[in-house]
Amino acid sequence: MKNSFVVLFLIICCFYFKVNSIVCDPPVGTPVNEPLGEGFGINKGRVVWVINRDATTWDGINGYYYDSEYLDQSKVDIMMDNAIRSLTGNEDVVLAWNMLFRDFNKRKHGQDVGYKSGQTIAMKINLNADYGGYGDNNGNEVSPQFLRSLMTHLTKYVGADQKDLYIYDASRLIMPHFQKMFGQYFPNINLFDNRGGEGSIQRVQPDPTSYLQFSNTEVPAQKQTKLPTFVNQADYVIEIDNFRGHSIAGVTLSGKNWFGTIYRPDIVCDFAGRHAGHWCPASLHKFVNITERPMGTYTPLVDLLGHPKLTNNALFVIADGLYGGPLEESCINDEDCVPSPPVIFEMEPFNDHWSSSIFISQDPIALDSVALDILRSEPHIPYSRIGCSDNYLHEGALANNPPSGTVYNPSGQKQLESLGIHEHWNNPYERKYTRNFDPVNGKGIELVEIDLSTD
Ligand SMILES: *[C@@H]1O[C@H](CO)[C@@H](O)[C@H](O)[C@H]1NC(C)=O
Repeated sequence: MKNSFVVLFLIICCFYFKVNSIVCDPPVGTPVNEPLGEGFGINKGRVVWVINRDATTWDGINGYYYDSEYLDQSKVDIMMDNAIRSLTGNEDVVLAWNMLFRDFNKRKHGQDVGYKSGQTIAMKINLNADYGGYGDNNGNEVSPQFLRSLMTHLTKYVGADQKDLYIYDASRLIMPHFQKMFGQYFPNINLFDNRGGEGSIQRVQPDPTSYLQFSNTEVPAQKQTKLPTFVNQADYVIEIDNFRGHSIAGVTLSGKNWFGTIYRPDIVCDFAGRHAGHWCPASLHKFVNITERPMGTYTPLVDLLGHPKLTNNALFVIADGLYGGPLEESCINDEDCVPSPPVIFEMEPFNDHWSSSIFISQDPIALDSVALDILRSEPHIPYSRIGCSDNYLHEGALANNPPSGTVYNPSGQKQLESLGIHEHWNNPYERKYTRNFDPVNGKGIELVEIDLSTD
């Protein structure tokens, strides 16, 4: 196994040096275990990764991967329980949720209080493959089973009323398979998408009183971005990531996810069937293009992660990696795009199976660091290693004093502090970070891997 990873490293490195003229630090595999930034949370730097290969049984051909026979709700429920409990270290799931709210409120508001009835929670999902019209497809993204588990936790263990929960993607559409699940189990949860075109789905609106500025004067409409009303007014955010590669940004995790949340007056998107209107991040793409942006350059992802109404307002970040994939969509010349389906992951511990995973952390930089280490070690996710895909993690970990020299200040009120801890693991087969090596003196990430598979 070790030998095959050495070969894999060599292939990745050759590929990497061939396509890149810019220098990315670190190239895949080096340097390792050198934490950057400041960890925070109940267990600083902790990322929980729950795997269950038994939960995902699609044959890759028939039906949809989220059909009930191919994605086992009861197994996903057990994975979600494990994720929440292990994140806090509390075996009681109700107490675990309470700890998360108290820790958040202490850090953000200086008050050691839990969730109060009537408080609202906004949840961004990433439906990047869903546009054009309302019709189901096999694009790799969040699944109804994952959302059903999480909504069950919020209503049952936290005690939130459905009417106080908001689920949305501002630039895409909420497809029928989601509508069906919500209609059946959570009919009073608020669903918002780009059009508000079907069923009980409402159309997202920008809040004129919201404010977000990008911290680089080259960004078009630098100070004019607006956020959805219910996001600007939410008491809490839960950020729900996909687990996959991205053709421009390398990966789409907690940073890139927010591209589906921003109202940009400078642009009206209407290309290749994506009628996203002003909810369109196209003028930001060149600032996240990893094949052109070396390490130590400004990135809008840090402004989004650090904005007080976005990840900085998040109880935690969580990724649905049950059926992860290589890309957002497959296009020919930016036309003729089709959603990109999930892919088989070859490496350990996936073992030639679907990625079958849930990731969770209070620290977005830590979560994205672990997910990136996995994605760029996996042969079937090539876009994750075409450039400096971790520039935003260096910039974010050191947001108070970033390598680019940028003064990150997305609210216009206050320069950002460190957004979390970044580190690369020692290697893809042991997957150890500094807090795995030394739980007492380690300063970086602690990866808690829980494999529930029976095979
Ligand atoms: C990203 O950079 C590459 C290399 O310069 C370029 O070919 C591509 O068009 C860029 N993509 C975007 C969306 O800017």
